[in-house]
Amino acid sequence: MILDGRKRESMVRAVETILSGGIVGFPTETVYGLGADAFNDEAVKKIFKLKNRPLADPLILHIADHKQLYEVASEVSELALKLIGKFWPGPLTLIFKKKSKVSPLLTAGLETVAVRMPRNIIATSLIKNTGTIIAAPSANKFQSISPTTAQAVDSEFGSDLEIILDGGPCLVGLESTIISVVKEPKILRLGGLSIEEIEKVLGIKLSVERKSGDLAKGLEAPGMMEFHYAPKKPLTLIKESVLESEFTPAYFTSKAVICFSEIQEAQLLKRGATDIHVLSKSGNMQEAARNYFETLRKIDHSDLKGIICIEVPEEFLGRALNDRLRRAQHR
Ligand code: TXA
Ligand code: MG
Repeated sequence: MILDGRKRESMVRAVETILSGGIVGFPTETVYGLGADAFNDEAVKKIFKLKNRPLADPLILHIADHKQLYEVASEVSELALKLIGKFWPGPLTLIFKKKSKVSPLLTAGLETVAVRMPRNIIATSLIKNTGTIIAAPSANKFQSISPTTAQAVDSEFGSDLEIILDGGPCLVGLESTIISVVKEPKILRLGGLSIEEIEKVLGIKLSVERKSGDLAKGLEAPGMMEFHYAPKKPLTLIKESVLESEFTPAYFTSKAVICFSEIQEAQLLKRGATDIHVLSKSGNMQEAARNYFETLRKIDHSDLKGIICIEVPEEFLGRALNDRLRRAQHR
């Protein structure tokens, strides 16, 4: 059931649900999450079951104040503190060495734990009012598209999910960036905070973990799996440069096209495309990121046969968006 997350009575119900071992859908600035009390194993198991998520895929712990970090992380480096000081609350998840009280269920047996402090006020109120740490993956079925509205969460789980707090569309629209700060900093997932911004603060170049593969072989972040964030319809990714030449109107028959700007839209119209979805008229990357998952979801529910996406510029949030697009075309 969708409840208005800004209303006191909705918050009270959500808090009661979490504290009695239930699951709550809630907004964050990145995407909606599926939250449970991180210190209640039975509740955490329900998340995996509801999502059809393999137990080998660990969860992110959501905190609302800095003291909570020290409940679960055993080592917090100077570099981590620098990132925290600059980017928390916000779309950045950090991987630390874990304390023994963190259940192996949360970390898939790893000795590390993922922690993030969201910026969304409904998320932080939920964490503060429960007085616990909330474990939460994105509120979608395993390997499908992340939800950026309460309605999208509802369409994934329906009556299987008791409460969804509605906080409107997510401001960032892409999942958090994940950085391991266990040893040398390493980006494990591109996301809602750009590498450029992080590198500026640290004054160093960061490496992006490109490993992909399957859970059984042990991944550092299963968000790196080749097949992930996928719509149900086949998706083809094309470079902007080929728009000039290679296509005839037949190519676009029964297909939706997702493009980045009004300029690309004009080129597509010339090539004969008809069902065009522009992520940001003005070519603004933040707006494009915010609209991406919802656009994909809408097309996925239509009776079109496929999706064509034009790559976005490979910089700032564009890197994270292209990363999602590449994975979405992989089947
Ligand atoms: O923006 C977000 O991060 C959203 C919102 C709800 O906070 N959450 C989210 O969670 O995207 P999820 O479960 O869909 O993705 C979490 C990713 C997974 O790829 C998981 O493998 C990785 O975080 N992860 C969790 N714990 C980890 C660990 N100890 N080491 C490496 N990766 C970890
Ligand atoms: Mg996810």
